Amino acid sequence: MATIYPKYTDAELKALSLERGALPKHIGIIMDGNGRWAKKRLLPRSAGHRAGMEALRGVVRFSHSAGIEALTVYAFSTENWRRPKLEIDALFSLLVEYFHKEIEELDLNGVRIRMLGDTSAFSPKLRELMDNAVERTKNNHGLMFNVALNYGGRAEIVNAAKKLVEEGVPADEIDEAAISDRLYTSGLPEVDLIIRTAGEKRLSNFLLYQAAYSEFCFTDTLFPDFDSNAYCACLKEYALRTRRFGRAL
Ligand code: FPP
Repeated sequence: MATIYPKYTDAELKALSLERGALPKHIGIIMDGNGRWAKKRLLPRSAGHRAGMEALRGVVRFSHSAGIEALTVYAFSTENWRRPKLEIDALFSLLVEYFHKEIEELDLNGVRIRMLGDTSAFSPKLRELMDNAVERTKNNHGLMFNVALNYGGRAEIVNAAKKLVEEGVPADEIDEAAISDRLYTSGLPEVDLIIRTAGEKRLSNFLLYQAAYSEFCFTDTLFPDFDSNAYCACLKEYALRTRRFGRAL
C-alpha cells in the first residue's frame, strides 16, 4: 500500500530542533558502510545493501517531510565495477526491486526522479525501468530525488568539456555557468551539504565540481543505521555552520 508522506509544519520541525530557514536546499549522501553493517552480523554483503535500501526509503521520506528541495544519493560509482560480480549483480537486482516497488509511492508523493551518470552500461531491463521512473515523475513538483549511478565526478566534468567542444562553444564564452549547465546536475540547486556515513572522510569522486562550497557532515553511523535521528543530527550540525563563500565575516 502506497503511503502519503506527512509534510512537517514549522512547529513539527521545531520539535525536532530544526528550523525551516536553516535547512539545506540540496543534500548529497555517500551511503557508506553497508558491507560493515553486514559483516558485524555475519551476513553476506548483499544483506547490508538491502538494509541500506531500507534506510534510503526513510531518508527519502524524511527529506520530503522536512521540505528539502533536492536529494542526491551515490548508489553506484564508476569505480564500483571493481567489486565482485556477485555483489554487483546483487546491487543491480536491488535497484530493479527498488524502482519497481517504490515508483508508485514516490510518484504519489510528487517526487521527481532523475538519474545522474552513464546509464548506457546497464541492462535494457534496468534502463527501461529507470527511464520509466524518470518519465513518469518528470512533471512532479516535490522532492528532486537524484540517484547517482555509474557516476564519477571526473567523468562528469570530462563529459561537460566534450559537450562544449561538440557544440562549438568559443573559449571566451566558457565560464562556470557554461560548465554547470552541462553537468548531470544541471538545473538543480547548489549542493549545500554532503553527508558521508560510516566514518570515512573522503569525497570518492562524488559531485566534485558541485562541492566547491558545500558543507560536509561525516558521521560514524553505518548507512543501514542512518535513521531520522542520525539525519536530524547532520541537519542540526549544518544549521550551526557559518557559510562564507569566500567572503570575510
Ligand atoms: C557503500 O557501502 C554502498 C554502496 C556501494 C551502494 C549503496 C547502495 C544502497 C544503499 C542500496 C540501494 C540503493 C538504491 C538507490 C536502491 P560499502 O559496501 O562500500 O560498505 P563498506 O565500506 O562497509 O564495505
